[in-house]
Order: sequence, then structure tokens, then C-alpha cells
Amino acid sequence: MKFSTLASIGLTGISTVLAAPSNVDTRTTNGAVFALTNAVNNAVIAFNRNADGTLTKTGEYPTGGHGQGVDFDSQGGLQLSADHKFLYAVNPASDEVTVYAVNGSSLKKIQSIYAGDQPLSITLSNNGFAYAMDGSVASTGIFGFKVNQKTGILSPITNSTIATSTPIGVPGTVTFSPDGRTLIVTNKVGSTIDQYAVAANGDAVLETTYASTGLRPFGAIFGKSNTLYVVESGLPAFGNAGLSTYHLNKADTNPLLKPVTKSEKNQQTDGCWVIVTPDEKFAFTASFITNAISSYKVAANGTATLIKEVAASPGEGTEPVDLALSADGQYLYNLQRGGGAISGWKIQADGSLKTLSNSFGAGQGIPVGDGASGLAAY
Ligand SMILES: *[C@@H]1O[C@H](CO)[C@@H](O)[C@H](O)[C@H]1NC(C)=O
Ligand SMILES: *[C@@H]1O[C@H](CO)[C@@H](O)[C@H](O)[C@H]1NC(C)=O
Ligand SMILES: *[C@@H]1O[C@H](CO)[C@@H](O)[C@H](O)[C@H]1NC(C)=O
Repeated sequence: MKFSTLASIGLTGISTVLAAPSNVDTRTTNGAVFALTNAVNNAVIAFNRNADGTLTKTGEYPTGGHGQGVDFDSQGGLQLSADHKFLYAVNPASDEVTVYAVNGSSLKKIQSIYAGDQPLSITLSNNGFAYAMDGSVASTGIFGFKVNQKTGILSPITNSTIATSTPIGVPGTVTFSPDGRTLIVTNKVGSTIDQYAVAANGDAVLETTYASTGLRPFGAIFGKSNTLYVVESGLPAFGNAGLSTYHLNKADTNPLLKPVTKSEKNQQTDGCWVIVTPDEKFAFTASFITNAISSYKVAANGTATLIKEVAASPGEGTEPVDLALSADGQYLYNLQRGGGAISGWKIQADGSLKTLSNSFGAGQGIPVGDGASGLAAY
């Protein structure tokens, strides 16, 4: 649990979800941003991405399932397919994933499917598989699907959860390697990283558990170069958040993660979310307690070096969580769990961030105070 106030838990629990408005924006889109409310009546709030990177809310789409209403504490609860045609949203309190067809910033619900006990994160491979990460202590693990890449529809591989290395690891995220042959799960408690081998038929087997190079690994994401970027919250120590990188040698039959950068600190507290630009020049982390976005420069060999401890701050009490990038890698967006809004920045050539706004969508359906979890963009 983060430092959420108890009062806000009650408030988000009764927040009302509205039906999609009839006046859905149909302008030519430059892309879209989607935020998951994680409210008890879970919903996706949709935004059109204007040409200048600014956001305009266009709709609100109930998943039909249930969110937790409180801190979800993971990365990746909302994911777009690589072609941006489908959006996948977890419903941790009703054990299902909702699938939407995407048209601009408009969504059409096409499926809800059982995804194991308390799905908190989902990842999609480029070769037609998806895995959800289940966070329930009773059944911590990953739950696999075959993805029909034409229709977006999921079908269970085994319809059962494959355990992580520990039931008490409080997993932070699940993420596929670029070739879809490897899956990674971070375990915050105990500071380990689980690696699964994924067979051609999508079956996953837990292969290796590594000691994380930093304390409390949380969010993780692969770049195309097969470099894994892992943010460490650093808690319980303050000012101890950092970014580690690992390289997965895809030439190996049984590729192993090799540490490259070992927890490059950013002096922030509770860094939990991480993203890397498509060209892998820059990585950004979001730190929940110090309300900071930190920036890193990434070298071709996967070495990450801190540029700025605080490249941007959405503001006091905003509690930045999930990060997402436009498909062209030019714009960075961040969901505020405290502020109930989205921040947007234009990424400059040197990796610095030029603020567009820290209040996109404020007062427009994103829970304020606690709950909101999951952001996707293209
Ligand atoms: C997407 O929306 C536009 C505007 O409403 C519509 O003309 C078009 O047919 C839609 N495309 C699909 C694939 O549904
Ligand atoms: C998968 O398991 C769930 C929970 O046990 C069950 O409700 C569902 O019917 C199963 N689905 C399939 C396709 O077997
Ligand atoms: C990685 O690249 C950086 C920047 O070019 C360089 O400073 C560093 O020495 C390289 N590290 C290794 C292990 O090759």
C-alpha cells in the first residue's frame, strides 16, 4: 500500500460511471490516450490526442467489471495492441479482462473474460499471446491467453494461473520480451525477478529467479534492443528509487538476463513506473511519494545514466503513477492517482520535458485521491 488516505477510499468506492456520451468526438485523430479508473464500477476514460499533444476527453466506457477502488500498486493494467486496434483492461475485483475495439479515441467493448484471481497487469506479445499477472496472495502468478490478432479476442491457454516463485512477492508487473519467448515478473517483496520461458504454443514455464540489482523492483518494460528497464521503488528507504537495466541475449537458446546498469539512483522516493522511448534514447520513471518524473539517457549498449532527478513534477499530492508515450515517441503522459488528472509533456531532443498541462481530464471522471491505475496511449 502507498500512503493513500482512508477517506479517499470511501469516495472512489461510490463514484458513478456514466455511459458513453452520444456526441463522441469523430475528428481525425492524432492518436488517443486511455485511463483506467479502477473504480468499483470500472471504466476507461478516453481522450483524443490533438496535433499539439494536448488531450480532449471524448468518452467514458464502463468495462462492465469491477476495479478495486483503491491503490492497485502495479504497472500495466491497461494495454493497447501494437497496431492500436484493441485495448485490454484489467478488472482486479471481478477477475476478468475487458477487451475493446479502438477507433480513434472511441471504444467498443467486444469481450470480458476470466483472467485468474485479481489480475493487475497485462502484457501482449507480437506473436499472438497475452499474459495477465494475478496479484492475489491465494494465487499469485500469470494467466495466459491466445490472442486472435485480427479480432482482438482472447481465449485461455490453460485457464489456470502459473505460480510465480513466491506467493508473497506482491508482483509489480508482467512484461513480454520483444520476440515473445520470455516473460518477466517483478516481485517487490524479496526483491526478485522471475523469468518464464514461453513456448511456440504460448505455454509459459518459470525458468529462473534473479535477485534484483535494486531494492523493490516494480515496473519493468523491454525495449526493442532486448534491454529490460526495471524501476526500483527503493522503499522503505527514502530517496532510494533507481533504474536498472538488464540485457537478454536473444541468440542464446535459454537467454538469461545480464545486469547492465545497477540501480542508477534518482534520489526520489517510491519510483514505481517506467517507460522507454521507441528509439531507446530516453527512459522516464515516476515516483509516487516525491511527485517526480525522473529522466535517464540510454546508451546503445543499454547503459542508463540519470539526466535529471526531477525532469518534471505534476505537483504536490498528485501521486504520479502509470506513464505512456504517443506512438511516435514525442509525447509523454502520466496518470495522477492523487490529482485525478493526466499530465502531458513534449519530449525535447535532449530528453528534457516541456509541460503541456498537468490537468488534462481534471474533474472528468478520473477518481481523485486514490484508485486510478493504468494508462495507454498511441
Ligand atoms: C471509425 O469511426 C468513424 C467515424 O465515426 C467511422 O466513419 C468509421 O467507419 C469507423 N471505423 C470502423 C472500423 O469502425
Ligand atoms: C475458466 O475458469 C473459470 C473459473 O474457474 C470458469 O468460470 C470458466 O468457465 C473457465 N473457462 C473455460 C473456457 O474453461
Ligand atoms: C556503454 O556506453 C557508454 C556510452 O557510450 C560508455 O560510456 C560505457 O563505457 C559503455 N559501457 C560498456 C560496458 O561498454
